[in-house]
This record gives sequence, C-alpha cells and structure tokens, in this order.
Amino acid sequence: MTGEEIEELEAREEGGLAGEATELYSGQYPIVIEGLRNAFGEQAVHENLSLKVRKGEILGVVGGSCSGKSVLMRTIIGLQRPIAGSVEVFGRSITDSAPDEAIGVRNRWGVLFQGGALFSTLTVGENVEVPLKKFYPEIGRTLLHEIAAYKVRLSGLPEEATSKFPAELSGGMRKRAGLARALALDPELLFLDEPTAGLDPIGAAAFDRLLRELTDTLNLTVFLITHDLDTLHEICDRVAVIAEKQVIAVGTIPELLEADHAWIQEYFNGPRGRAAMAAQNRSKPMDTGAGPRA
Ligand SMILES: Nc1ncnc2c1ncn2[C@@H]1O[C@H](COP(=O)(O)OP(=O)(O)OP(=O)(O)O)[C@@H](O)[C@H]1O
Ligand SMILES: [Mg+2]
Repeated sequence: MTGEEIEELEAREEGGLAGEATELYSGQYPIVIEGLRNAFGEQAVHENLSLKVRKGEILGVVGGSCSGKSVLMRTIIGLQRPIAGSVEVFGRSITDSAPDEAIGVRNRWGVLFQGGALFSTLTVGENVEVPLKKFYPEIGRTLLHEIAAYKVRLSGLPEEATSKFPAELSGGMRKRAGLARALALDPELLFLDEPTAGLDPIGAAAFDRLLRELTDTLNLTVFLITHDLDTLHEICDRVAVIAEKQVIAVGTIPELLEADHAWIQEYFNGPRGRAAMAAQNRSKPMDTGAGPRA
C-alpha cells in the first residue's frame, strides 16, 4: 500500500461517500421494523410484522418455505418497497428513502444472497472488489487488490482462491467467497440468506464457527436466515420465528420452546430438532471444537 493510497483511504473514511456518514452505530437496535406489510398482488406475505435486532447479536431467522424470510431481508436492505410500515437501519429510515439515496447506511452492511450469486465471469478477488468500486471508486488498483485479498483470507480461503473463477471452487469455497464479498466494506451489519444450505455437515459446522468468530472479533450484528437446526443451536444468540405473516416469537431456543405454538414445537421439538438439541448438549461438557455435526 503506498502512502498516497493510505491518504486516499483515510480521506474517504473521514469524509464518507457523498454524504454517507461513517460513525459507528452506538444505539441498541441497528434494525427496527414496525408494522410491515408486503404483498404481491392479492398475496400478502407480511402483515403488521415487527422486529428489533439487537446490536452484536447473531439473530437466526426461521420460518417455513415461502413464509417471507428472503422478502423480509430484501425489505430491510431497501430492495423491496413495503406497502405499509417502517424499517430503520442504524436509526435511518429505509422505507422513506429511494434505493439510491445516500442516507449513510448502504455502505455499512454486507449481504450474502440465497444461492450465493457470485459473478461467474469475475474471479473471486474481482467479485470482492465490486462493492468496493461501487462505494469507493477512487481507490487505486493496488489497494483494491490488497483489500480483496485480505477479505478472501479473512473468510478462510487460501490466497490462491483470489484469482480463481467461481466455477473452479467447491460449494463450500463459493460460500466463503460470498462471505468475503459481503465483508468487503467492513460492514457493521451482515445479512446472510441460507449460507450453509447445500454444504456437507463438516463444511457447514466450519462455516458456522468462522461466522461466530468474525461476529465476535469484528463486532458485527448478523441477520441470519437459516433452516439449519445445528446452526441455530450452535451460533445464534436469539431466533426469530416467521409464521402467519408475522414474527410470532423471538428469543433464545429455550425461551421459544416455552411458547405454546404448534409450528415452533414441531420445528424445535420434532425429531430433527431434538437430535440437534441432543447434539448441542453432548458437545457442551467436552467441546472438541468440531461441533455436533462432525
Ligand atoms: N418479486 C416477487 N414477486 C412475486 N412474488 C414474490 C416475489 N418475491 C417473493 N414472492 C413470493 O413471496 C413469498 C415469500 O417468498 P420468500 O422468498 O421470502 O420466501 P422464503 O421464506 O425466503 O422461502 P425459502 O425458505 O424457500 O427461501 C413466496 O410465496 C414468493 O413466491
Ligand atoms: Mg428464501
């Protein structure tokens, strides 16, 4: 990194991007959703949905298929305009602003969409550079490459992966590449939609451990949509349950189990839920670090 490039980066950090504020969020709830309504034609997906995400937590988001988890995530990041209700991120209204309006938050989150969605014609490093170029177009090539290589290593990929194309990577490595891109802008907030879907149990457990470690060391807040019961038990601080177009409960898994709700009971107390819980309990006294899946 040359002195010029460091100065350039410092100037960006001080000045922010076209009015984008860069002070860290010091409030308690980086995401506040109230009275949300989303519908596609006649089909209502969310009806009076409210949720507060606490700073520093990994919030697991569960719900049946088509219950509106991905739509909720897209609404929070401003890609889906709700019919009613409000969404605030870091205290700024997402719902009252246009998707391209500089409101000081869009460069402060990272997103891993369901399915990963890396650009197939770009290398892993170039994929990570995409959000950097968008928000910090003045950063020079050398610095861009260095930041991208650093994020790739941070995501647990070997350095060589930086110059590979997505098709040359395994499924697990592609998820990590997606994570590297989500971390490109040093986000305070991370949105992950089914990050371990399709991974083998050992790969999924390793991804979970990495996510927990990054959350704790980088002071992230994580909105984590997942069907993976092991993930929910292993790394989530709280879990929000979406059913009947609303968040019907949010809390730790023991707290949720106290709720007398059929879907929650079936999900966490059904055969698979009980197996994940038993594995979690077994792994506690003598934690090998391998997690219950291994
Ligand atoms: N752009 C869209 N246009 C029309 N309908 C949509 C659109 N996006 C989502 N939907 C509908 O909204 C509902 C919720 O979709 P969503 O993708 O949020 O489900 P999900 O909970 O993420 O499901 P899964 O667990 O399968 O990923 C679905 O019935 C879906 O068909
Ligand atoms: Mg989804």
